Amino acid sequence: MLKLWNQEAADWRLALRTETEGAGSRLSVEADGKTATLWVGLGDAETVTAETVRRAAAKGIKTLKGLGAKTVVLDPAAAKTLLEQDGVDAMAQGVALALYRPRSWKTEEQTDMTLYMASVLPSEESNSLTEAICLARDLVNCPANHLVPADLARTMTETARTYGVETEIISAEQARALGMEAFLTVGDSAGHAPCLIVLRYRGGAPDQAPIGLVGKGVTCDTGGYCLKPASSMKGIKGDMAGAAAVFGALLALARNKVPVNATVVIPSVENRIAPDSFIPGDVIGSMSGKTIEIGNTDAEGRLILADAITYALRKEGVGRVLDIATLTGAVVGMFGFTTAGFLCNDEAYCTDFMEAAAVSGEQYWRLPAFDEYRKMIESPVADVSNVSNDGCGTITAGLFLETFTESHPWLHIDIAGTAWVDSPKWEYQTNGATGAAVTTLYHLCKAMAKEA
Ligand code: BES
Ligand code: ZN
Ligand code: ZN
Repeated sequence: MLKLWNQEAADWRLALRTETEGAGSRLSVEADGKTATLWVGLGDAETVTAETVRRAAAKGIKTLKGLGAKTVVLDPAAAKTLLEQDGVDAMAQGVALALYRPRSWKTEEQTDMTLYMASVLPSEESNSLTEAICLARDLVNCPANHLVPADLARTMTETARTYGVETEIISAEQARALGMEAFLTVGDSAGHAPCLIVLRYRGGAPDQAPIGLVGKGVTCDTGGYCLKPASSMKGIKGDMAGAAAVFGALLALARNKVPVNATVVIPSVENRIAPDSFIPGDVIGSMSGKTIEIGNTDAEGRLILADAITYALRKEGVGRVLDIATLTGAVVGMFGFTTAGFLCNDEAYCTDFMEAAAVSGEQYWRLPAFDEYRKMIESPVADVSNVSNDGCGTITAGLFLETFTESHPWLHIDIAGTAWVDSPKWEYQTNGATGAAVTTLYHLCKAMAKEA
């Protein structure tokens, strides 16, 4: 982490300034004496937000990295004047996220830049969120052969326990006893056993129902018998970004001792092909008792999430439910890689969520839940179908899950577009996993702590 600068040698200083202070161009260099300064323009002072600072700082540090800088002092003066501690935090976070590198299996390691902060350090809360984002990125970037469901469970429970979070791993056998047929139908398609990961953080009053954070944990999604074409298989190891997001958010809640109760539930499976794997046309049961017709084995996420939601409601006693998943290619067609789609059945919950997104700087857009869309997942032979018979893939995937929410306040987020970028969409991203939704989920839960 960053240290305060004590006038040690540094070859570069990274500083920000608004247009009114004379930053005519976005980037400019001033060299006087030993340390050269790279100035990054922030635009008009009136419009600067934490997100502006994050992007500018990221752009600056990537530029310096490109110039071969070895030691850099970050000067948060302008950010602090504009946004106080939030500006300092945003500058440090933008730099750290921009310099993130996934674990590498190269035999020769790259060396890191040495970074200092002039005059003031980022807050502990900001540091913990930056680390949570990087941890989420690590999990999503990890190759599927290095991260099967048991690995995900071990990594998550070991880390969570060090922050006092209670953990439980529900095995395939235990899930069978609970009647989790939808979860196991997918999980049984692979040689690596599935498991359900449960993490309970209790920072709030004992009588406060926890929020249930349910994240899709498919460690690899081949599509199953509805096999994905090779051209669509590049990112299949990243199909557990929803799980990584709820995990990262929960860790940050625990590290900051936020006074709220939250329970993470992660159904983790591989979606593969075995001789007796499920196939289109099958009709299966679920923990809720509802029956499901399989229209497509590549729509596996909603099957495992359905049982995880039922488990969260009936076994963990959660109040509000939130599920998050890299669920549909359709959301990428709608919103691209910068904006996630969501559905919500409760106006107060929706408002809390949008306010949390405004704090984090992430972009979300609400989708409609008209009755006509519910008709699209009716099945002639079962209670519900796992695919739509008439398009609207993102909405119908969400409404499939709504079937299992038992009238609880519910919010569903599809991060298939935002969890992974082949090239950065914002400067603080790096190729691959983005750590999407970690900060928004954290701020949502933190706001709920204030309300309680
Ligand atoms: N994990 C995928 C969705 C996905 C697509 C994530 C692209 C990231 C990038 C999901 O399991 C899936 O395959 N969904 C299908 C559903 C369809 C068969 C109804 C899809 O979107 O094509
Ligand atoms: Zn799939
Ligand atoms: Zn999937």
